[in-house]
Amino acid sequence: MSSFEKLLKSYQERINRVLENILPRDDSILSSAMRYSVLNGGKRLRPILIYLVGELSGKDSDNLDILAGAIELVHCYSLIHDDLPSMDDDELRRGNPTTHKKFDEATAILAGDALQPLAFELISTINTSADNKIMMIKSLSKACGHMGMVGGQIKDIHSEKILNLKSLDLMHSEKTGKLIQSSLETSGILVGLSKSTIEALKEFGAKIGLAFQIQDDIIDIESPSSLSGKDQGSDVIKDKITYPSLVGLEHSKKRAIELSEEAKKILQPISKNTDNLSELADYIVSRKT
Ligand code: IPE
Ligand code: IPE
Ligand code: MG
Ligand code: MG
Ligand code: MG
Repeated sequence: MSSFEKLLKSYQERINRVLENILPRDDSILSSAMRYSVLNGGKRLRPILIYLVGELSGKDSDNLDILAGAIELVHCYSLIHDDLPSMDDDELRRGNPTTHKKFDEATAILAGDALQPLAFELISTINTSADNKIMMIKSLSKACGHMGMVGGQIKDIHSEKILNLKSLDLMHSEKTGKLIQSSLETSGILVGLSKSTIEALKEFGAKIGLAFQIQDDIIDIESPSSLSGKDQGSDVIKDKITYPSLVGLEHSKKRAIELSEEAKKILQPISKNTDNLSELADYIVSRKT
């Protein structure tokens, strides 16, 4: 295992402990479904981004854990809803039955519904200024709303209308890029990075966010379920417009790598050690899961 892989693993273990503690523990169906949908593995990319931005400031604290937990809850809610019969209708997530398969559809919808406000409640408890909290809440709510993740998801549901790369890039940036950008931005706000550094991190996030979704589309085709933990070929079966369906696999791979290289260039003017963020940009386009 490389030292970067070890770092990823240690942050994954850290966020898993945090998530374990912030989720409700009672044995109601709702709480069980919330725990099932969050404590089931996952790469924890968005928390890792939060910790890597924390590294730039040289400060570490429990505050980062709460923020990282909150953003992962929003992500997990988006996955529960994404898998629903009325959305992608998938049966496998992180190697396990999707939440509506394990429980039922109503429980899955409501588990997602409950995870989202819990995220905002958690941010309200972070030990920082009220201004910082408002800025973080604004960033995250914009990232998951109609101009962000949900806006991208509805474009995906009507993806037959996507006829060119520009509209596909917009859909990918909204459905996946915005939450990734917000992870970087909120962490930058929390640890007190300068406005210009936060702007650069957001630009970096736009590039790696798009690259991340292109790689996700490639994984749908190339990675067996045993590796990805998801139903292989789900996009193809559902006639989704994806990067490979629009421009082919080879061009998709080239574009993902190009975006990752562009992302790394954006980090160069930042006067801090951004090596780990650079390594993450490489990891995003080389991952098979
Ligand atoms: C899958 O996200 C959905 C997308 C936004 C592409 P991840 O690939 O981050 O899923 P987990 O959290 O590792 O399961
Ligand atoms: C989902 O994109 C993006 C979300 C906002 C959840 P996909 O539908 O391609 O994600 P997977 O492949 O099911 O994880
Ligand atoms: Mg989807
Ligand atoms: Mg899906
Ligand atoms: Mg996918």
